[in-house]
Amino acid sequence: MNFEKKVAFITGASSGIGRAAAIKLAKHGAVVIVTDIDEKQGQETVELIQKDGGTAKFFVLDVGDKAAIKTTMLKAIEEFGPIKLAVNNAGIGGVLAPVHEVKDEDWDRMMQINLTSVFQCMREEINCMLHHGGGNIVNISSLAGLNGFKGNAPYSVAKHGVIGLTRSAAQEYGTLGIRVNAVCPGFTETAIIHKDMRDFVNKLTKVRVPMQRIGRPEEVANTIAWLLSEESSYVNGTYVEVDGGMQAG
Ligand SMILES: NC(=O)c1ccc[n+]([C@@H]2O[C@H](COP(=O)([O-])OP(=O)(O)OC[C@H]3O[C@@H](n4cnc5c(N)ncnc54)[C@H](O)[C@@H]3O)[C@@H](O)[C@H]2O)c1
Repeated sequence: MNFEKKVAFITGASSGIGRAAAIKLAKHGAVVIVTDIDEKQGQETVELIQKDGGTAKFFVLDVGDKAAIKTTMLKAIEEFGPIKLAVNNAGIGGVLAPVHEVKDEDWDRMMQINLTSVFQCMREEINCMLHHGGGNIVNISSLAGLNGFKGNAPYSVAKHGVIGLTRSAAQEYGTLGIRVNAVCPGFTETAIIHKDMRDFVNKLTKVRVPMQRIGRPEEVANTIAWLLSEESSYVNGTYVEVDGGMQAG
């Protein structure tokens, strides 16, 4: 895998899967634009990359802020050059409630952070890639983007939307040097799995996951990197489940 000097833009890169992806891409030569709302942890991601000899810079970005998505990306492009690799990863778990109890503000927030922001990031990324010889995009969906999610319909709807966006864009830009794919992680050891979800996740993992363990962010990052690399050069408009086999049965 060689991302030598390619500029990679990652949202939600201060922790979990986004951080692991940032570290992995930098390890293979990418110049990584680390973005997140969490500045302290974002700087930590940058330090981890730099300690390993890589290149990265943190930009604060709240993907709930449409104007900031554009201005942050333009700032990063001005400083480092055109974005060739993008990982639209930032996401929230949202508020658990059955459909009839979901509040409008919770629904709207979920759609903005987990779906609309992916569209808004892609719009800027694609605009840049179209003018600079193409690129490669990976969106982070979820197994909840393939199945219903009892108690968290907004999350499931947003993640289904990410798949639709991915597949549509892949069809639009296939001849223009831009590939677009998605990754659907199963349970992955990150902060998004709150303490009070832990027991439920552990129990479900024992019953539903053939490998009987939760995934590591690095295992998801490896798949993201593969999809962004030339090693997957004919893979386009699809999603890869990284779930220890959960979706298989
Ligand atoms: N961990 C899992 O089990 C799992 C499973 C399926 C899908 N996912 C998806 O993976 C992605 C990454 O999540 P994670 O598991 O690494 O969790 P995480 O909580 O460790 O990382 C999410 C990151 O997104 C950032 N973020 C949250 N709101 C933001 C905003 N408004 N603007 C910018 N950044 C924001 C957080 O600060 C954090 O750094 C998410 O899209 C999540 O839905 C996670």
